[in-house]
Amino acid sequence: MRILIINGPNLDILGKREPEIYGTMTLWDIENRLKEKFPKVKLEFYQSNSEGPIIDALHKGLDGSIGGVVLNPGAFTHYSYAIRDAAAALKVPVIEVHLSNVHAREEFRRESVIAPVCKGVIAGFGARGYELAVEFILEQS
Ligand code: DQA
Repeated sequence: MRILIINGPNLDILGKREPEIYGTMTLWDIENRLKEKFPKVKLEFYQSNSEGPIIDALHKGLDGSIGGVVLNPGAFTHYSYAIRDAAAALKVPVIEVHLSNVHAREEFRRESVIAPVCKGVIAGFGARGYELAVEFILEQS
């Protein structure tokens, strides 16, 4: 089974970016941990600081061989209707993941315009959140 792992803006600078909030692991560390934990799953990783490539990556989820999508849209979470529409078009589960507990932070982070079209949301468990999301998709298939 193939699973898409899609990360949005500023997640490419994890490790350097506000480590007190996001931790010291880099995105590369997170991706490698996932590959080690799920060696039999075809994990496909995408990251972009722009909306368009994230939407294009989500469109790959229309391919019948994709089992699900793990999506951390970064700040786009809070205002991108275009990413929401792309996620809504998918028939496979999309799991929204946040490293930080967005509900314990600034007011604007409490709203996700994407969550209503997702199967569920995982927030506040750091890199472990991505693993939990992959586990869920595997259980569903
Ligand atoms: C984030 C939370 C967002 O509010 C923020 O803009 C990010 C990262 C997280 O993983 O905790 O870029 O998605």
